[in-house]
Amino acid sequence: MENKPQSPESASLVLNGKDYSMPVLKGSMGPDVVDIRKLYGQADVFTFDPGFTSTASCESGLTFIDGDKGVLLHRGYPIDQLAEKSNFLEVCHLLLHGELPTAAEYAAFERNITYHTMLHAQFDRFFEGFRRDAHPMAVMVGTVGALSAFYHDSLDIHDPQQRMISAIRLIAKMPTIAARAFKYSAGQPFVYPRNDLGYAENFLRMCFAVPAEDYEVNPVLARAMDRIFILHADHEQNASTSTVRLAGSSGANPFACIAAGIACLWGPSHGGANEEALNMLKEIGTPERIPEFVAGVKDRKYRLMGFGHRVYKNYDPRAKVMQTTCHEVLEAVGDPNDPLLQVARELERVALNDPYFIERKLYPNIDFYSGITLSAMGFPTTMFTVLFALARTVGWVAQWKEMMEDPGQKIGRPRQLYTGPVERNFVPIDKRG
Ligand code: ACO
Repeated sequence: MENKPQSPESASLVLNGKDYSMPVLKGSMGPDVVDIRKLYGQADVFTFDPGFTSTASCESGLTFIDGDKGVLLHRGYPIDQLAEKSNFLEVCHLLLHGELPTAAEYAAFERNITYHTMLHAQFDRFFEGFRRDAHPMAVMVGTVGALSAFYHDSLDIHDPQQRMISAIRLIAKMPTIAARAFKYSAGQPFVYPRNDLGYAENFLRMCFAVPAEDYEVNPVLARAMDRIFILHADHEQNASTSTVRLAGSSGANPFACIAAGIACLWGPSHGGANEEALNMLKEIGTPERIPEFVAGVKDRKYRLMGFGHRVYKNYDPRAKVMQTTCHEVLEAVGDPNDPLLQVARELERVALNDPYFIERKLYPNIDFYSGITLSAMGFPTTMFTVLFALARTVGWVAQWKEMMEDPGQKIGRPRQLYTGPVERNFVPIDKRG
């Protein structure tokens, strides 16, 4: 554990000759924060931080990231230990309840999730309204939001038990919804969940079984899927999680909040990056074309997808686990000499030795290898972000729950630096021009 150096109790800001003192708050790890909550009231100024690069928006005990050192902890446990020794449902329990479960707690939790995997029969009719060529993320945004119309008995956000039931429902039903989004786009009938299968196995079967032929779940793929879910389970106050918190801060129900998170995750700078990264590797095609491609990145024609991260200025710890998982999957079902993997390896080597990327601290992120892995597992690129949303649901809902339990919780309402016209009088239309 980190030994924090002595830090000041307060910070001061001198403005127009007046000195304003602000408390400095200390977390258990990571940088201290200057508490500016009273600054506007006292000094009549706002702070300016577009993109929130220096702003802590909340207090949280779920996930800790040290981007410079490449550290990611959930409730204190390093991500590589969780990925290697735990499973996704244990991690869900850890995030939701704060501790790894005992054997009895695990059995009860698993049973609870398993018995909530089915969807209301009426819910299936929702899918029919979409075009078959709709992006599965469009289907996810719509259908997950629609859960609010089906589960009225868990919508009271002020009741802790109802909050927990909603959380369980979301984690349990997300694989069923995601698999249906996939089946719908493939023009195949829906496959129902099976209670005798584990979380990842059940999901794979719902995606790849057909009525004419059952799907024998390959244990290597089930383990890889489970690990991919663990790696994406939570990631502190990222864009989609902040969206969920902001939506929830107004008192919106959890299903609507998670739908908002899914919408945010869809963007190519966030969850859409692995789809973009795989497309990029395909476009490059062969290792010989890498120098030409890297030259284009340096000319700022495009970005190297799957590289760089707002927080990690070191190797993303999840990317290392993802790289190993990628090799295991290709060993089991794909081609370990896959040309895309060769391009990925060579591109990584070139970028990690090039001053342009070194100076900007650009390292591979989790998306760099996840695209190749998911593709080898049989998923089309349009499903990649859906899988991310499925896994991140536990993080979103645990963060939402934590916010709801915070007595200091307020509606989120950022300020702005206004640069528009100053007040002026209305001009009638015949006097304009
Ligand atoms: N390729 C090339 N150059 C890059 C890249 C990249 N992928 N990312 C950042 N840079 C450069 C910028 O051009 C900039 O250079 P400059 O200082 O010379 O102008 C510098 O690095 C800093 O870039 P910012 O945009 O300020 O970095 P920021 O922290 O805001 O961006 C982001 C983070 C959006 C993830 C960015 O690195 C990116 O676009 N990466 C590609 C998309 C991607 O892989 N996203 C997945 C993120 S992980 C996730 O969501 C799970």
